[in-house]
Parts: sequence; structure tokens; C-alpha cells
Amino acid sequence: MKKILCIIGTRPEAIKMAPVILALRAEPWVNVVVLATAQHRSMLDQVNRFFGVTPDIDLDIMRPNQALTTLTARLLLELDDVLLREKPDAVLVQGDTTTVMSVALTSFYHRIPIGHIEAGLRTWDMLNPFPEEANRVITGKLAKWHFSPTEGSRQNLLKEKILDADITVTGNTVIDALLITASKELKLTIPLEPAKRLILVTAHRRENFGEPLHNICRALKTLAEDNPEVQFLYPVHPNPNVKEMVHRFLGGVPNFILCDPLDYAPFIAAMKRAYIILTDSGGVQEEAPALGKPVLVLRDETERPEAIEQGVVKLVGPHYERIVHETQNLLDNALAYKKMARGISPYGDGQAAGRIVDVLRAHFLR
Ligand code: UD1
Ligand code: UDP
Repeated sequence: MKKILCIIGTRPEAIKMAPVILALRAEPWVNVVVLATAQHRSMLDQVNRFFGVTPDIDLDIMRPNQALTTLTARLLLELDDVLLREKPDAVLVQGDTTTVMSVALTSFYHRIPIGHIEAGLRTWDMLNPFPEEANRVITGKLAKWHFSPTEGSRQNLLKEKILDADITVTGNTVIDALLITASKELKLTIPLEPAKRLILVTAHRRENFGEPLHNICRALKTLAEDNPEVQFLYPVHPNPNVKEMVHRFLGGVPNFILCDPLDYAPFIAAMKRAYIILTDSGGVQEEAPALGKPVLVLRDETERPEAIEQGVVKLVGPHYERIVHETQNLLDNALAYKKMARGISPYGDGQAAGRIVDVLRAHFLR
């Protein structure tokens, strides 16, 4: 038996790793050990509950308003102990969080091969997104298997002199998770008025803290006031830098519902119910096109250009004028809306986890 350690830290990692954990568990040759660093606590736990994943090891790392350096330092020390104890044959990580980068570094020190899921996303700008671009570049340098979601992400890795033989284009496991979830009955418990159009908002990026998030909030307030017949729903990320400002600016706006983060399945239900989605999230940029929902991205750059090239996602940045103008245009102009609401899935076909397992099986059973 081989031992593979699947490591998850935050909400999106738990969502995108779940299909891989479920697929690996069906393989007779591997003992799957799930390690939660719990860089996120409540947001991680709700996803694991939904997919029936119980971590075998839980580092319970999260602290309120954690700083990057202390988070990284604590992760490195705790992970060092785990790897010494568990001695896995491989580790799997997903994405570009501090958990991912810390696992990659620690595993490299222990000479344990690393499989990187969602490999090769790049903006080529170290400060956008911050610190994720650095996290994925470092992880890419150290990984043995690169599971790229798209041909474009494969090309990015080739530019960095990663060997072609080490890259597999798999699609993004976010679409596997979406299809597993969309096949179930989805309930959104937030009371919405059925006749009203819904604008769904999420924002949490560190580079948007302060002035950019302030601009986003001002734009949202203007849009809500100008369009009283439209409902806005914003499940607010629990990061105190986000929560405090969002509640200060948007709390009390009558057609604006602020709520805690939604559990994954209700959030998919909210996306399905939405007319337009405004977000700076990576995962939402991948899911929404597959659900046929136009997305305006509250960032100046994205590592996910495929949906933009297809015309179903547009960058508006954290800029007051552009957010107001582009959102209003989608509300008023049926043709512009129709062009963006086409229902395409540039990020996967729902079979990514199977392709990842194929590569690992071929390696370990060769
Ligand atoms: C992290 C990732 C980011 C990813 C995002 C997904 C890093 C540096 N950032 O950002 O790449 O896109 O997750 O959401 O890896 N908190 C809670 N409960 C939770 C989760 C977070 O209260 O369940 C609060 C805590 O005060 C915590 C803070 O949010 O300290 C920040 O969490 P952290 O993981 O450092 O950063 P995120 O902004 O969530
Ligand atoms: N999501 C969720 N509840 C919410 C908001 C988002 O379950 O209230 C899901 C969403 O479907 C997507 C993932 O969380 O799969 C995205 O996570 P996030 O935006 O926190 O991180 P990012 O993708 O930007 O790293």
C-alpha cells in the first residue's frame, strides 16, 4: 500500500480537493490520509461535512486575523512533525494558499514528492493576487506532478521550464465538485423575493483591503440605491479586514442582504438563482460560467483568462465608475446580458479527479 497525504487548509481547497479524495478512496492500492491545517476553521468544516470528508489529522492552525508570517511559521513547524511521523509516499495540495506553499516547502525538505492540483495559473505579477502568485510559483518550482486545469496553464509552466512530461491537463476539480453538488437538491435558506433579479457579491482578496474594498462598497451602495427593484446578496468573508468595512458601508441598505458565508451547496443555489455575479474570488470565476451567469471580476488582473477570452467574464477592477457602469449596463441592456450568459465551461468537464488519479496510479503501480 502507498500512502498519499491530501492536505487542505481553506474553503476552496476543501471544495476542489474533495473529488480527488473521493476518487482516491476508491483505489485499492492507496491509503488516503487527509490532513486539515485548518487555516480556515468554520468555512473548512462546512465543506468537509458536505462531502463526507473527516480529516485524519487536524492542525487547528487558524487564529483571528492571522498574519502571513506567523501563519507560515506555525504551518512549517507543525507540518514538519506530521511528515516525520506519517512518512507519506506523496503529498497532494490544491491551489495557491499559504497552506499550499508551506506544504510544498516542508515536503521538499523531506524529499517527499508533491502533486500540485490547479498548477500553472499565473498573472505574472507577484503583487496581484497577493500572496497567491508567489505561493503558486514557489509550489510549481517544487512539485513533481503538475495537474493543470487548462492548456493555457500548461503553457505557463512550460515557459518556466517545467518538463512537459511532468504536466497533465486535467481540467479543474472545481467542476467535478460542482457537478456532484448540482445533482443534489439545493436549498437557499435566505428569504429572497422571487420576482426580483438578484446580484450576488463576494470579495475577500488581500490586495483589495483598504481603499479598493472601500471603492467596491461605494459602487455597490450606488447600484443598490439606483436599482431598488434589484436584490443584492453578499455572503461576507469572515476575514475582519473585509467584514468590518462591508458591514459599515452596506449594513442597513434596504435591498442589500449581508449574511455569513453560505455553506457550499446553498452558495451554488445562490449562484444558480443570481442574475449577475460580482466577485474577486478565483473559484467563483470558474463555477459561474458553467452555470451560465455573467461575472464581473473586482480585480485588475486574473490568472483565469479563458472565460474572459470567451466573453462570459469581464474584469472591472476595484474601481467605482467601472463597477457601476458595467453592472448597470448588464441590468439595462438585454443584448449585452445575453452575450455573457451563455453557459460554457472553459475550466473542466467534471472528470479532472479521475485524470489525476490515473497519473498517480500509473506512477505507483508501474
Ligand atoms: C485565504 C487564502 C486565499 C484564499 C482564501 C479563500 C492565504 C494567504 N489566503 O484567504 O488565498 O483565496 O483563503 O477564502 O492563504 N476566518 C474565520 N473563519 C474561517 C476562515 C477565516 O474567522 O473559517 C478569519 C480569521 O480571522 C482568519 C482570517 O479570516 O485569521 C483570515 O484567514 P486567512 O486564511 O489568513 O486568509 P483569507 O483572507 O481567508
Ligand atoms: N463559496 C461558498 N460559500 C460562500 C462563498 C463562496 O461555499 O459564501 C464557495 C464557492 O462556490 C467557491 C469557493 O467557495 O467554490 C471560493 O472560495 P473563495 O472565494 O473563498 O476563495 P478563492 O476561490 O478566491 O481562492
